Amino acid sequence: MIRIYKILQRIFVIALITSCSPEIKETPDQGKHELEKRVTELLNKMSLDEKIGQMSQIDPGMVGSDEDIEQAVREGRYGSFLNLLGAERVNELQKIAVEESRLGIPLIFARDVIHGFKTIFPIPLGMAASWNPEIVKKAFRISAIEASSVGIKWTFAPMIDITWDPRWGRIAESCGEDPYLASVLSKAMVEGIQGEDLTDPTSVAACAKHYVGYGFSEAGRDYNTTYISESLLRNVVLKPFKAAQKAGALTFMSAFNDLNGVPTSGNKFTLRQILRNEWNYDGMVVSDWASVEEMISHGFCADKKEAALKAIQAGVDMEMASDTYSNHIADLLAEGEIDIKLIDEAVKNILRVKIKLGLFENPYIELKAGQKILNKEFLAHAQTVARESIVLLKNEKKTLPLSEDIKSVAVIGPLADAPRDQLGTWVFDGEAKHSVTPITAIKQLLGDKKVNYAQTLKFSRDEDKSRFAKAKLAAKKSDAIVFFAGEEWILSGEGQCRGEINLPGAQTELIEELKKTGKPLVLVFMAGRPLAIGKELTMADAVLYAWHGGTMAGPAITDILFGKYAPSGKLPVTFVKGAGQIPFYYYRKNTGRPSSNKHWTHIDDISVENPQNSLGYKSHHLDYGFTPLLPFGYGLTYTTFEYADLKLSEDEITTDGSIEVSATITNTGQREATEIAQLYIRDRVGSITRPVKELKSYTRVTIKPGEKAQVKFKLTKDDLEFFNGEKIVVEAGEFDVWVGTDSDSGLHGEFSIIN
Ligand code: GLC
Repeated sequence: MIRIYKILQRIFVIALITSCSPEIKETPDQGKHELEKRVTELLNKMSLDEKIGQMSQIDPGMVGSDEDIEQAVREGRYGSFLNLLGAERVNELQKIAVEESRLGIPLIFARDVIHGFKTIFPIPLGMAASWNPEIVKKAFRISAIEASSVGIKWTFAPMIDITWDPRWGRIAESCGEDPYLASVLSKAMVEGIQGEDLTDPTSVAACAKHYVGYGFSEAGRDYNTTYISESLLRNVVLKPFKAAQKAGALTFMSAFNDLNGVPTSGNKFTLRQILRNEWNYDGMVVSDWASVEEMISHGFCADKKEAALKAIQAGVDMEMASDTYSNHIADLLAEGEIDIKLIDEAVKNILRVKIKLGLFENPYIELKAGQKILNKEFLAHAQTVARESIVLLKNEKKTLPLSEDIKSVAVIGPLADAPRDQLGTWVFDGEAKHSVTPITAIKQLLGDKKVNYAQTLKFSRDEDKSRFAKAKLAAKKSDAIVFFAGEEWILSGEGQCRGEINLPGAQTELIEELKKTGKPLVLVFMAGRPLAIGKELTMADAVLYAWHGGTMAGPAITDILFGKYAPSGKLPVTFVKGAGQIPFYYYRKNTGRPSSNKHWTHIDDISVENPQNSLGYKSHHLDYGFTPLLPFGYGLTYTTFEYADLKLSEDEITTDGSIEVSATITNTGQREATEIAQLYIRDRVGSITRPVKELKSYTRVTIKPGEKAQVKFKLTKDDLEFFNGEKIVVEAGEFDVWVGTDSDSGLHGEFSIIN
């Protein structure tokens, strides 16, 4: 009897909620006012326990048996589950939430879908190397279609932490070092994940993470302290998050790191002052995994109760995978430590996301949706993205592309046939069995007879040289060597940082041995970070950087190796000569003693007898000098491009003015290719020191051999303003502008800003 009464009551409550707004039958995405009315009406029906329940997200493994989970849902103890798998199970639990809990508030199921669900795309750092927001957006749309088909309606992506440190394993998940490129991609990723209509069954809530500054973990050691000045925070680190908010990201995730002494999951300045008060963000903030409770370990909170207090005061709406909220919020309220308003605000943010996603109207998933997974279209797009992520770093003697008519090719190295490693880090649901590896793709193209395969090293850290002789034999009987070098996937990603960033294992020694054969030597790197590959770069005739390229990495690399497509990727991060150069980023400051070739003497060239002041006193390393191995934005292709005719529409503008910049690019080579033309500026003098270069725009242009194309850019106030430690300003002064193929070159012009 009671059960029937409860069901009838539920039907009444839901009817009441939806009937309050007759238009509610349309999408919940109607006017803000009606949405807020609906949120408030539901909130006012909730008990304190139900409110606190919504504020907790849990992994099912932490609850206990299936029955425990079901009872918890029935009692409204959790608002969200992460990592709960299986469409049927999702629907089962959702049915309990909707039909058996007192108010029928649906659950939201979450999962990390960082660069693909079943169809795996290149790691985000690789996708960033494409500089192509359109294909990245489609990759995240495909990921959302696949993930939502099994009930995932919230994913913890995009990861948009800026980082300067390739030792940090999570650089693999990032969009690299540049705030402009990361912002362009942040927008694309959020739009791809959330789709055009939030109530569409394939739409998934995005989560801008890790808010904020996590990529500056000291020494590239994960979870380490971060010190970030407010000007660096506002001029660089926050930019991609602002882009995510403008793109409509429904959620943000607070991070693990201690930012200038205050953990970001208890940081009122970033979470309340910036995100809520300055940006007026109305989405939901979830903590990172147990990052609320970890404020005890940080020494910022004495116990779980204080952790709950500081997190909710700062503005964390939902606690992931720790229980400080469920165990202490009620007491904090009863003891007058917090006001009910704080709780209500958090719950409103959560309910707003669930309503916007249409979960009240459509809480269940269609079980047949799963047929879309890994279809031909998705795999073809994965190949496109992997291909456009590949960066050509060197190509001497026109070694590449190889001809399909080649008599034989030696394929060697630990990454040539490593189906799991090529997927990269943060792959929960993708499967190695779906990977098409480079050796498979090359054999498919050339036929087995032409391919002399010698894995030689069984994995990237393998030090066993016993198979070197066999490798050299394979090389000697072939017309060219293609060596697949790099890292196992486990060497990057969360908690997987490296102090040295060279090629692991005996790979370099093997490359040295193969070099001695005198055969054309092509290196293909598959890694989760920019490695220090100076020695290998010198030995190779041609080098491709393919990152961990995902399910279709093999065909994508083969497309480029044999010239079906010309490479178009550009580095989204600086490549250093060694870990000792870190941090090295192109938008560095000039310093009071900038070095140059005039001032720098290589350590090997320094005479033995030296007077005290003999080495110039400039800002460089005696061994590494003052330049990186390869600059941000660098990437070659199978033709050459010539830049000319730089034109500025004005040579002087006011502080709210704009300037049009154009240049002509000629394809001076023999084949059609795509160039990513980049526009950089320099503000020569500011009320704080300004970077020597800043990327402000770029454009992709495909040009046939012998033809020209004009590229146009517009610099506006938004591009010229910066935070000077006190406020956002555009300051009068002299500016440089460059249009070129990377951050280290280009046509130079100048203009002035006057008050
Ligand atoms: C992890 C990561 C975060 C992820 C979350 C849920 O520790 O820091 O990026 O989304 O926990 O898996």
